[in-house]
Amino acid sequence: MSEKIQTIPIAKPWMGEAEAEAAKRPILAGWVTQGPEVAAFEQEFAAYVGAKYACAVSNCTTALHLALLAVGVQTGDEVITVSHSYIATANSIRYCGAIPVFVDIEPQTYNINPMLIEDVISDRTRAILVVHQIGMPCDLKAILEIAHRYNLPVIEDAACAIGSEILWDGQWEKIGKPHGDIACFSFHPRKIISTGDGGMLTAKNPEWDKQFRLWRQHGMSVPDTVRHGAKQVIFESYPMLGYNYRMTDIQAAVGREQLKRLPEIIERRRYLAQRYQEKLGDVPGLKLPTEPTWAKSNWQSFCVRLPEKCDQVQVMQAMLDTGISTRRGIMCAHREPAYSIEAWSCGIAQDTCDCQPGKCQRLTESEQAQERAIILPLFHDMTQQQQDRVVEVLKELCQV
Ligand SMILES: Cc1ncc(COP(=O)(O)O)c(C=O)c1O
Repeated sequence: MSEKIQTIPIAKPWMGEAEAEAAKRPILAGWVTQGPEVAAFEQEFAAYVGAKYACAVSNCTTALHLALLAVGVQTGDEVITVSHSYIATANSIRYCGAIPVFVDIEPQTYNINPMLIEDVISDRTRAILVVHQIGMPCDLKAILEIAHRYNLPVIEDAACAIGSEILWDGQWEKIGKPHGDIACFSFHPRKIISTGDGGMLTAKNPEWDKQFRLWRQHGMSVPDTVRHGAKQVIFESYPMLGYNYRMTDIQAAVGREQLKRLPEIIERRRYLAQRYQEKLGDVPGLKLPTEPTWAKSNWQSFCVRLPEKCDQVQVMQAMLDTGISTRRGIMCAHREPAYSIEAWSCGIAQDTCDCQPGKCQRLTESEQAQERAIILPLFHDMTQQQQDRVVEVLKELCQV
């Protein structure tokens, strides 16, 4: 009888009875959206990251959209960001009618290279949108120094960085305080805690927080929580164009349970990441991710760069054939058909950048990371045997 291959997934949320029980609460209480669970989740999340204000929304893409609107990004503006990110980062800029201007990454951290930001600041630049890619904090100190000099707001795409930390004035602080102006988080199941889908905005400025609360609920002047509790008839109005970017109470109830698990999840992921480092450290040509001394990643993903002689697709296929799921390095938005528009797939005018389809001379590190890196399985209840299997198969493939 043939032995059934046990698949090792790329990621898997860590949830259980506690989350299932929590989801029951709003269902049985009858208040299932934008109610007390959402309010409690916001408070607990804010306390966890050390933020004054946190506003829950439907996902991180909608959070990014609202963050950009809040800092005043409008049609025709430019926003400096990375191409090397999930496409939602760049898409959120285009939702505002603005142009993403892409900057290359540092090859070791897969994060924006701060040294390249100043070169692309123009009189149309309205904001800088940085990403803490796959949980690794980007160099906020260097980025904020430039942003302050040019008086530009900084939005942090912290979709992947719940629980990641940065050394700030001698103290370890959670990403999302925020250190920039606004930070945006995701609770998609690929992230280290999940509400199915979901997002959170943390902001420095109370005015922005107020604005998010209006925008996320159609621009409605009196929230339904207030109307529900009112002793007199009140009518709401809609003074601005709003959106339906609400989080449900069912999601928030699950999120509150997930938050309780977070310290244990991070500890486990840091342990597994360290184990990958130890077990893969001696593979010739294989480049492992590095954590700067001022950063602590939550290791949302563990991304390795393959030796030159290895073909990315062949390695991924061979791993899949033995039941191990991997993913290619982070995508590059400028290489996608949705960005092959007019003259600006990389955001720079044609007379200063001669982009070819799918290739930009300014984004070579991003392109190489996409082509040469793979993401290995990493999830909370991954066993040592599963991890050893990944290591064994990858080592074999790197040594042929
Ligand atoms: C860096 C980054 N930004 C934004 C998003 C979008 O998050 P969501 O799916 O919650 O909209 C993702 C999701 O994978 C992401 O990885």
